[in-house]
Amino acid sequence: MAARKGRYGVEAPIVPTLLGAVGVLLLVAALVLALTGVAAPGWTLAALVWSLVVGTCLLVAAGWYLFTTLRGRFAVWAEIVEGMWLRGGDRVLDMGCGRGEVLTLVARRLRSGRAVGLDPWDGTSPDVTLANAAAEGVADRVDVSTGDLTAMPFADGDFDVVVSSLALHTIPSAEGRAAAVAEAVRVLRPGGRLALVDLRHVQEYESVLAEQGVTDLRRRGLGPRFWYCGPWVGASLVTGTKPSEPDEFTSA
Ligand SMILES: C[S@@+](CC[C@H](N)C(=O)[O-])C[C@H]1O[C@@H](n2cnc3c(N)ncnc32)[C@H](O)[C@@H]1O
Repeated sequence: MAARKGRYGVEAPIVPTLLGAVGVLLLVAALVLALTGVAAPGWTLAALVWSLVVGTCLLVAAGWYLFTTLRGRFAVWAEIVEGMWLRGGDRVLDMGCGRGEVLTLVARRLRSGRAVGLDPWDGTSPDVTLANAAAEGVADRVDVSTGDLTAMPFADGDFDVVVSSLALHTIPSAEGRAAAVAEAVRVLRPGGRLALVDLRHVQEYESVLAEQGVTDLRRRGLGPRFWYCGPWVGASLVTGTKPSEPDEFTSA
């Protein structure tokens, strides 16, 4: 994967900061115990071992989080996008595009097509996303749009491909998430494909897609490169195709 030139930052930086800080404190505590109190029997040795083990685990978790957010997820998404066999003229929607992490990856594979990013821009600004598109050399293929995933401002069948990364789980209710997944299907043209990645609820998305008549459904974990801290916070992918014949498509 080519080096990323945009500025995508670290998601929820408080998480690796806290993990790293507590990890370092525990290792310092273990060192102090080793230098001063290890000769004492009982709890001192237990406290030393506990500080050493837990401190090391927290540092590994912080490092893994940083690896995933800075490199791993981009490598995984590059492979997902490659596997979607985009044609240069496709219109692709990125639902909840944020700073354009996936949007710009998609845009690199287009020529005359468009990569459209939808976001309410609560936590970031469309200018940041457009600046990242410019940094990646794809500004001529990227559009940003403002809106809600549960009621998207696009016509039925407007896109050849719909993608989303880590956005749907931020919708608090199951009804809201189901509405967003149904919207993904609505704006997809017959025969269009979708790829949804998230940390939670991916099985729920698969069920909604099945109810919506989406075919060729596949769900899989994305492995260690998309773990935030460890396997207990790992991302999964669900992919599918909207049936080509409109009358095969069952709306909810
Ligand atoms: C964790 S960020 C993920 C950003 C980016 N897709 C990525 O892979 O890093 C979640 C994004 O979803 C957006 N989002 C959350 N709820 C949304 C909603 N109801 N409609 C549209 N976007 C939403 C947020 O504004 C944010 O940009």
